[in-house]
Amino acid sequence: MIILRTVNDVRDFVSTAKGRGASVGLVPTMGALHDGHLSLVEQAVKGNDVTIVSLFVNPTQFNNPTDLATYPRQEEDDFKLLAKAGVSAVFAPSVEEMYPGGPDAQPKHEFDLGHAAEVMEGKYRPGHFQGVAQVVSLLFRIVNPDRAYFGEKDFQQIAVIRNMVKSEGIKVDIIACPIKRADDGLALSSRNALLTPEQRAVAPEIHEALKYSVEYSRDHSVRATHDTVVERLNAVPELQVEYFEIVDGRTLEAIDEWEESPYVVGCITVYCGKVRLIDNIAYRLPK
Ligand code: PAF
Repeated sequence: MIILRTVNDVRDFVSTAKGRGASVGLVPTMGALHDGHLSLVEQAVKGNDVTIVSLFVNPTQFNNPTDLATYPRQEEDDFKLLAKAGVSAVFAPSVEEMYPGGPDAQPKHEFDLGHAAEVMEGKYRPGHFQGVAQVVSLLFRIVNPDRAYFGEKDFQQIAVIRNMVKSEGIKVDIIACPIKRADDGLALSSRNALLTPEQRAVAPEIHEALKYSVEYSRDHSVRATHDTVVERLNAVPELQVEYFEIVDGRTLEAIDEWEESPYVVGCITVYCGKVRLIDNIAYRLPK
């Protein structure tokens, strides 16, 4: 596995690979890798001749400086995991390499991300998805991958990236990979490392409540299903629901009746102490 630090080195690496007819898969990450990331890497390695993983904690998608400062970083451990997973190259650039002169010095560009970027995370983290679109489009332009892999834990992010790719006219297949969970059901996330042992012990309640709500939804309304999840989680000390929305899985429009859509997903963000955790569950899947 080769470690690349500059845009030029990545371009050279990719053009050599493509020159010999190799397909290229990209797994964009912010590092602090866990089994969730490794499952994306596994799919990328299986589906492409060459797999590149980017490790970059992107400052432009954080709207809270403390969140950016405390985001876990463990580059050396990440390199070891990726080498073992059969990755061809890691792209681990500096902030200056990605944003010469700093993020504020970049040409202003407003991405057309559609309705999907305005709700839920978009409402509670203003500017977040513009920052995600900025870095992901930059990575796509640098790496020019055939396929890019994203985890469904960040369900809304995938919808937004699909909109970005369409509006920017970027040719890449976006592959959505299923959520990886710990044995007790907690969705794997780099942020889990920030939980105290007491918080870690109650965090699986998020998935428990969502799972229970799927059963509950069979003979209850959308509103009642929503409320049962929020009430159950807010009753747990340390947990505070920021939002829970039951939406159409494609448009992310909130629904009022189950019959409104063949694809219904509940998306939730819960504070566990100061750690912001997200998760989701499908109520209906398209046939
Ligand atoms: O999901 C993430 O880790 C990030 O949002 C991404 C896609 C790597 C962009 O920084």
